[in-house]
Amino acid sequence: MSTSKPTTTSTSSNKKPETASNTQQPRKLSSFLSSKRKSGTSDAASLGTAFNNMKLSQDNKTTTTSSKDPSKEKKPSTTTTSKAPLKPLKDEKEPVATTKDPKSNEVIIKANNVTYCADSVVGNGSFGVVVRAIVSETREVVAIKKVLQDKRYKNRELQIMQTLSHPNIVELKNSFFTNGDKTDEIFLHLVLEFVPDTVYRVSRHYSKLKQSIPMIYIKVYTYQLLRALGYIHAIGVCHRDIKPQNLLLDPQLSIMKICDFGSAKMLVKGEPNVAYICSRYYRAPELVFGATNYTTAIDVWSAGCVLAELLLGQPLFPGESGVDQLVEIIKVLGTPTREEIQAMNHTYTDYKFPQIKGSPWSKVFRMRPVEAIDLVSKLLNYTPTNRLKPFEALAHPFFDELRTPGLTLPNGKPLPPLFNFSDIEIKEAGPLLSKILPSGTTPSANGGETSTLQQ
Ligand SMILES: Nc1ncnc2c1ncn2[C@@H]1O[C@H](COP(=O)(O)OP(=O)(O)OP(=O)(O)O)[C@@H](O)[C@H]1O
Ligand SMILES: [Mg+2]
Repeated sequence: MSTSKPTTTSTSSNKKPETASNTQQPRKLSSFLSSKRKSGTSDAASLGTAFNNMKLSQDNKTTTTSSKDPSKEKKPSTTTTSKAPLKPLKDEKEPVATTKDPKSNEVIIKANNVTYCADSVVGNGSFGVVVRAIVSETREVVAIKKVLQDKRYKNRELQIMQTLSHPNIVELKNSFFTNGDKTDEIFLHLVLEFVPDTVYRVSRHYSKLKQSIPMIYIKVYTYQLLRALGYIHAIGVCHRDIKPQNLLLDPQLSIMKICDFGSAKMLVKGEPNVAYICSRYYRAPELVFGATNYTTAIDVWSAGCVLAELLLGQPLFPGESGVDQLVEIIKVLGTPTREEIQAMNHTYTDYKFPQIKGSPWSKVFRMRPVEAIDLVSKLLNYTPTNRLKPFEALAHPFFDELRTPGLTLPNGKPLPPLFNFSDIEIKEAGPLLSKILPSGTTPSANGGETSTLQQ
């Protein structure tokens, strides 16, 4: 059974494979820093090095595309872009100035009349480095994600983030470009609201203590994930990389926000999309079967894997390679039928799989509540069209407890806002809305707080 594997495999095998980029010695500080002076503190050093390493990783990115066993599609930068040409840099409102404070070793960036003091690295992903920064003028804490930009195209991550506005999606506050060391090299900087934790770290914390996450938190996090998916799917966007590392958490308020729209795409019916997408453990089976006509249901599969992982304390399908991913899924769901294979990829004709019966869900999730198991089974269905839609999932009895008036969390705090639906969400929910809302309440206009329904 997959669950016998240690949790640590989730980091080692599911994260980026070891590449030249993360084993090379750091080169001189990137163009982000104007000063060539050696960093004095470890924080500042790691900040400069991380920005520099990121550039190496970006340089390396195009060469890892055909890597044998990456956990995630290593896209050449053009696949994260749309065909529309990028506005030339000279049209920027004002040039971006980057300096280093010799006293604090903080990196200071002045862009669009805002001064950012970057003080530490908070994430080093496969496509960018993310730093924490303080806005000098307001003392607001932000995260800045820096990614290499192909000059010929608009950045899809930026374009998509500019269209999104939702309580469970990290907010884009600003964006600007800087020039790199090499001629024609441009970096995009996304200034995001800062969210201190991730579902991944919280889940790992409990696993290390050999404890399970309290069920109420599993419900609160999963509800917010499905709510955010309901919203992005309503506007046609598929995230394509849902995984615990991309789910930011404010642990005090228990607010979950999806981040990393670097793989996201507006899916258009009839237009093919790359199948080699999404981090392996969370990759829907139709992607493993090479489908290019998939739908937003791939995110629902990933959400099902996240819920399962929170319930189990370790990944449900820890595949060690693309093919092994299917083996892990088959061990639990059994061999897909001919019809299911057709539904996943109608061009697939090789049906010669060993017939395996799979494992009943109740055995996979011993001692877990029946509603939790029922919801997982309805998200993790081979046939994409049979998976619950995100708003259908919100109406599931697993979330009924969240609809209890006056419910508080174990830390004594109230639940985060869960029912302040926007018009887009209300339309998407349709008749399900009355089931999703606590009884006797209605969402106020324009997505405001829930108000008590006048009798
Ligand atoms: N707004 C934010 N606030 C705080 N931390 C963040 C924020 N955005 C990202 N991070 C941290 O940085 C990490 C990397 O960010 P992100 O996932 O956007 O980059 P990436 O390079 O696309 O990652 P990967 O491809 O490895 O998934 C996140 O997993 C998270 O830990
Ligand atoms: Mg990420």
